[in-house]
Amino acid sequence: MAKTKKSWFCKNCGSESPKWLGRCPDCGEWNTFVEEVISKPSRYEAPSSGDGERTSRSTPIPLNEVRQRELVRIDMGYPEVNRVLGGGLVPGSLVLLGGEPGIGKSTLSLQLAMRVSGLKVLYVSGEESPEQIKLRADRLSGNTENCYILSETSCETIVDRMRQLNPDMVVIDSIQTLYSDTIESSPGSISQIRECAAILMRYAKQTMTPIFIIGHITKDGTIAGPKILEHIVDVVFQFEGDPNNIYRLLRSVKNRFGATSEIGVFEMRGDGLKEVENPSEILLSHHDEPLSGIAIGATMDGARPYMIEVQALASATAYGTPQRTTTGFDGKRLSMLLAVIEKRLNFRMGTKDVFLNIAGGFKVSDPGLDAAVVASILSSALDKPVAERTAFAGEIGLSGEVRPASRTEQRIMEASRLGFERIVVSSYAKKGLSGTKKGIEIIYVSKIEELARIIAGAV
Ligand code: TYD
Ligand code: MG
Repeated sequence: MAKTKKSWFCKNCGSESPKWLGRCPDCGEWNTFVEEVISKPSRYEAPSSGDGERTSRSTPIPLNEVRQRELVRIDMGYPEVNRVLGGGLVPGSLVLLGGEPGIGKSTLSLQLAMRVSGLKVLYVSGEESPEQIKLRADRLSGNTENCYILSETSCETIVDRMRQLNPDMVVIDSIQTLYSDTIESSPGSISQIRECAAILMRYAKQTMTPIFIIGHITKDGTIAGPKILEHIVDVVFQFEGDPNNIYRLLRSVKNRFGATSEIGVFEMRGDGLKEVENPSEILLSHHDEPLSGIAIGATMDGARPYMIEVQALASATAYGTPQRTTTGFDGKRLSMLLAVIEKRLNFRMGTKDVFLNIAGGFKVSDPGLDAAVVASILSSALDKPVAERTAFAGEIGLSGEVRPASRTEQRIMEASRLGFERIVVSSYAKKGLSGTKKGIEIIYVSKIEELARIIAGAV
């Protein structure tokens, strides 16, 4: 039997160390090391849920003799979810669904469990009783006869039940509540999460059963202890959104079977989550008169373009150090853009507080939104509304050049489709555009100065 052993783990990234460290050498976070009692089976012992199947599998085979099993993807019943998965769920895959508490992970996975038609689904909850889940299911309305509920937190028992029931899909809510007997530390600790995920993965791969694992994310955006999970699982989803807002984004951060950074948009309603097929239309607010500080960006998430509203407020600072507050946009990127505005346009941004907000509680990391961000800041600083029905797409470089945003053509087409009259893009994107009629006026700019002139109304 394995010997009891203690080890130190980083709470942020799961890095292991034999002694306490002030700063994690892997993720650079301070004061994140916690001691955990672990008792690991030695490398040469059989895995804890092992079936003695190891020998038959691990013989090297030449790559050209590897026979491809036909990849039949499971239809999840929601086109948005299928798209984010890259065309459906792959049998035997392990999907991590991360998100802050209360964002709707349990709701989404229960809806999925009830929607996949004709498949037997096991929904394991370590957080809620079957009665509570039933209450929720009644509100969501769906097919309940093929959906089995298990309230259990022992990972070994769960695997036993899975072997008895032989489900076609499993949902685990959540990985932080599970524990394995082989590990002495408490549920939710890094070594428990790691061991339980490994047990689930062995089950998934042996039986080709897809498993959704729900993981809670801490405030700073990392799922507690899940950097370790991220490389174990096949797909990492993030479910995000502003809790005060009804929109939720399902984002694929990692996908072994499809493209990453695809997003699906949902609306949280009284009767559960509903897909939003046309995000652009809901993300643009409608104003009766033009307001300064608002610019519309044509942005891109994965392969889909959508229009999003950027709001900025630049006002004289009352203190020595100006405030920079952003929601939905990277704060460092904002500082960079402000520095470029200050240097290239001689705007005294150092004496201004700047607040930046992306509409709908969305988080955007697309650099193609830079032009819209700069436009909204300039519009607010000059108190000049941006001309109506105008969109922006372009990345801003350090020397103030406007670079082409990725897939500029698709962004232009989306703006045109939504009835925009003009779109400002980088002049370097011109040669990449096809000759098809766009039905929209395209304004080319190569420098931030030209962008400023458009806002100031000189163009
Ligand atoms: P939940 O799925 O429990 O979140 P998580 O599992 O990520 O912690 O979602 C909880 C929130 O969703 C709760 O605040 C209420 C809201 N909600 C609705 O608005 N409509 C619904 O139909 C359901 C089931 C939940
Ligand atoms: Mg939950």
